[in-house]
Amino acid sequence: MIGTVGDMTNRNREIRLASRPSGPARTENFALAETEIPEPGAGQILVRNTWMSVDPFMRGLMDAESDFFLPQYEIGQPLYGGAVGEVVASRADGVPVGATVSHFLGWREYAVVDAAEATVIDTGLAPANAYLGPLGTTGLTAWAALTDVAPVREGDVVFVSAAAGAVGSIAGQIARRLGAAKVIGSAGGPDKAKRLVHDFGFDAALDYKRGDLAGQLAAAAPDGIDLYVDNVGGDHLEAAIDAMRTGGRAALIGSISGYEADVPGPRNLERIVLRQLTLRGVQVSAYFDRFPEFIAQAAGWLADGSLRSAETVVEGIEQAPAAFLGVLSGANTGKMLVRLP
Ligand SMILES: NC(=O)c1ccc[n+]([C@@H]2O[C@H](COP(=O)([O-])OP(=O)(O)OC[C@H]3O[C@@H](n4cnc5c(N)ncnc54)[C@H](OP(=O)(O)O)[C@@H]3O)[C@@H](O)[C@H]2O)c1
Repeated sequence: MIGTVGDMTNRNREIRLASRPSGPARTENFALAETEIPEPGAGQILVRNTWMSVDPFMRGLMDAESDFFLPQYEIGQPLYGGAVGEVVASRADGVPVGATVSHFLGWREYAVVDAAEATVIDTGLAPANAYLGPLGTTGLTAWAALTDVAPVREGDVVFVSAAAGAVGSIAGQIARRLGAAKVIGSAGGPDKAKRLVHDFGFDAALDYKRGDLAGQLAAAAPDGIDLYVDNVGGDHLEAAIDAMRTGGRAALIGSISGYEADVPGPRNLERIVLRQLTLRGVQVSAYFDRFPEFIAQAAGWLADGSLRSAETVVEGIEQAPAAFLGVLSGANTGKMLVRLP
């Protein structure tokens, strides 16, 4: 083994799935467990996680089955997901002790990771936590949506839902940067609506909790919208389809309104035909090979201040379930992260 692990306690804490939710997920569905710190084998590294991500897709993995391409969480086993941390022991060539890496074994304080599954990140370019937000899959998702799936065109009127969240807040700013004439966002509550305009540069903000989303959208975009970035589905997708001009496009990223509730789909699909609309899904994993290109571009935007990122930070592995439930219920502005001290 290269390096020593002398400065760590010999305990690891991790969050396991205690039971599958029936209805909305609750804290009782999670359990905090303590283990020995695992030892890396040949080709592996031991990572002390410093930040972990909690994401809406994890809700689907808590169920017995889902359509997702990742394995379901297993009862009694630790959850997994995005994390960054410091390599504290290494048995892998090319990933030295002291490197900072991103990987997919979050929800634990220490992780043994196959070196091939870890990416060494450049903390000179941006702090480690940025690689779970604007420079991570969050940013890549927004970028893929607006550069490839439904590219922004000069002069577009763009509508983004869940716009105060991680993907949405980045998407609104990228749309502006790539030539949108007007960027409209929706979020839950007056404070988030204010932040859309003040912090993220949206031209107009809709508070969907006030009701009449379609009316609010029509008032903000009296001549309709050209492009919709959908993070919510349900009523938001229906309102956006109604508001789209002929030839309008939508990037369908997610439908969080339906992750824990039965939400009817849009009732106005005939408008897709009548107005020759294009609605196309986004799957971020299809863009992983473009991470270097994306990071080079987005790190420049972060550095020159044209891309602002926000975080809601929760402290300690024991708070990770609450942080995750908070993402589903809107407790976050920007990216929800758990710091592991
Ligand atoms: N396709 C992909 O590859 C991909 C990749 C990443 C993320 N996603 C999807 O992108 C979306 C956003 O993910 P994220 O990580 O950026 O999360 P996020 O937006 O930071 O957090 C989720 C937000 O959703 C909003 N929300 C919850 N229930 C809602 C409802 N019933 N109606 C309207 N808004 C609701 C909440 O904000 P409010 O307070 O404003 O309600 C909450 O803050 C999710 O649908 C996620 O599944 C997809």
